[in-house]
This record gives sequence, C-alpha cells and structure tokens, in this order.
Amino acid sequence: MDLKKVKISGIGKAVPERIMTNDDLAKIVDTSDEWITQRTGIKERRVSDDKTATSDLCIRAAEDAIKMSGIDKDEIDFIIVGTVTPDYFFPSTAGIVQKALGIGKCAILDIEAGCSGFLYALAVARRFIAFGGYRHILAIGAETLTKIINWEDRNTCVLFGDGAGAAVLSPADSESCILSDALSGNGNLGDLLIMHGGGSRNPISQKILDDKSATICMENGRDIFKNAVVSMYDMAHETLNIAGVTTEDVKWLIPHQANLRIMDSVIKKLGIEKEKLLVDLEKYGNTSAASIPITLTDFVENGTIKKGELVLLVAFGAGFTSAGTLLRW
Ligand code: ACO
Repeated sequence: MDLKKVKISGIGKAVPERIMTNDDLAKIVDTSDEWITQRTGIKERRVSDDKTATSDLCIRAAEDAIKMSGIDKDEIDFIIVGTVTPDYFFPSTAGIVQKALGIGKCAILDIEAGCSGFLYALAVARRFIAFGGYRHILAIGAETLTKIINWEDRNTCVLFGDGAGAAVLSPADSESCILSDALSGNGNLGDLLIMHGGGSRNPISQKILDDKSATICMENGRDIFKNAVVSMYDMAHETLNIAGVTTEDVKWLIPHQANLRIMDSVIKKLGIEKEKLLVDLEKYGNTSAASIPITLTDFVENGTIKKGELVLLVAFGAGFTSAGTLLRW
C-alpha cells in the first residue's frame, strides 16, 4: 500500500495573559525563586482566569495554525485534542473546538496521554492522512493545569502552567514531512502522577473536596525524574532508528518542557550538544500536552527552526506514557 507523506502545514499557540512569577508563588507557599529556578529552570508560568477553559486556548492556537496552513477551516476533516484538563468529561473538547470554529462535518477525538498527548495526537493524525480518506487534521495539545492544582502543595503548584499549541497536518508534497514516530506506555507507573478524586473510582463528594484529592498528586518527583530521562532517551533512539538517522543528524531537540535538569540529563545521555536543545520552560512552566507545540511554535516564529532542518520531539507523561516524533521542517 502506498502511504502518503504527512507534514505540519501550520502551527500556532495560545497562553493566558496573566503571568505568575516565582516570587508571586512564594507569597502563597513556603518556596523561593531560588529553589524553583535551581531545581526546575522555571521562572514564571501563565494562569488562566475563571472564564477561560482549555477549549478557549485551543481555539486561539487552532486559528493561528489554520491561518498559517493556508487551508480553509472547512477543509479540516478531523480534530484531535490531547489534554488531561478537558472542559468537561463529555462532550469532548475536540467537539467544543469544532463548534467554536464553525467546522461542519468532521471527526472529533480527545486523547488522554498526559504530557505526551500532543505527540500521540500527531501519531494518530499522521496515520489517518497516510492511509488516505482524511486530508487536513487539526492536532492540539492543551491544558489548564492550574485549575487542578492544590495551591497549598509546594511540591506541585510551582511546576505547572496553562497553554495550548496546535498543528494542522496535511499531505506532504516535498521533503518537509514527518519522518518517523514512536509511542509507548507503562501503566505500572500510573500512580506516580495521578488525580485520585473526581473519576468513577472516587466520584466527587464532600470528602474529595475537603481533602483536595481532585488535584494533581505527585508523591515521588525523583522517580518521575528518573523515568522521564530513561523513557525520553529510549523514545529518541527508537524514533531515530525508524528513520535511519542518528543524533548527529538532528538539528534541534524539543523535549517535553517539564524541568531543565531532566532535559539536561536527556541530552547528556543522548550525546546531543546543548546548542541543539530548545527550551522556553522558563516562561511557561510545565504545560503538559501543550509544552511541545508551544515550544515548536515559538522557535519557528523567531526563525530558529528553518525549512529543511531535522527536529526531534520527545515526551513523557502521566500514564506513564512516552513518545517521539522526527520531522523535517
Ligand atoms: N520550594 C521549596 N522547597 C521545596 C519545594 C518548593 N516548591 N518543593 C519541595 N521542596 C522541598 C522538599 O520538601 C524537600 O524538603 P526536605 O528535604 O526537607 O524533605 C526538598 O525540597 C528536596 O526535595 P526533593 O524532592 O529531594 O527535590 P528534588 O531535587 O528531587 O526536586 C523536583 C524536586 C523539582 C520535583 C524534581 O524531583 C523533579 O523535577 N521531578 C520531576 C517532576 C516533574 O517534572 N513532574 C511533573 C512532570 S510529569 C509530566 O510532565 C507528565
């Protein structure tokens, strides 16, 4: 079967206006700019207001991505949203985006793969186009994690921020295309990063609200750290091997932006020069599924990533999930 090549034809991002600095956080919990900067590399993050839900950020990012792709919005035949902070359990955030964008007939799907959500969305979208029948697919990674943070827990509240990044995927007619991808998961590590309350295991109750268990729970940051490094290293190699290229060939690496020390460990293990590592974590914190498309958009917009260059994206996330995508921009 002749599979079609697939490219990213447009990208865009959206973040809330409100900036929360490390010093702002130090007024809420026992922490400091020095601790957060040294341990994570984060300086500030964006926090959405009460009126803003995940879909609102998706829509803004998607509009930019569609504009850059040059297609008409009605040519989109599938919307996929990677998120762990959907507007509702149901309907899907993808459906809310479809309605807001005024797109008539298209397939809609939310993917729950934690911080790997955007790369999972890209992998699914790529196959739908490659096999034919679908031409233009909107793949989005978006979160409003600050809505599920326990603001009394300094272990977690300093890490996360809100945002969205979107990509339009289309059939490729040149060398600029997705070259390979790989997905993985390890449910045995699911407890490392978990929201205990609010789902069918522990439905919303007064107790859930009182003990704040409908918020992000991360009891062992060090274990996450170790597994993040190993899984992103593995995914990077798997993705490169499938494409038949080496780390030497890679011009830019965009890992999931969770923590600068994790990213530093990954490039050391991979033997990739620091100059190739693209980071904007200091501005946004960990935006989970949104982090990779936001970083990609920033570095394409500022001219760093140029046409024809090889860009490797790697992610890890709650689940535990991990993923890699290699593309020629
Ligand atoms: N401010 C000040 N002190 C703090 C804070 C804070 N915000 N948070 C924790 N501490 C304290 C701890 O209580 C501990 O104190 P103690 O020694 O008195 O017990 C001390 O700092 C050291 O804590 P450690 O956990 O040993 O610190 P570590 O160097 O491991 O850094 C961190 C913690 C930043 C969480 C690190 O483990 C990490 O980055 N892990 C990965 C976590 C992560 O990225 N999670 C989210 C990503 S998952 C995803 O994106 C899907």
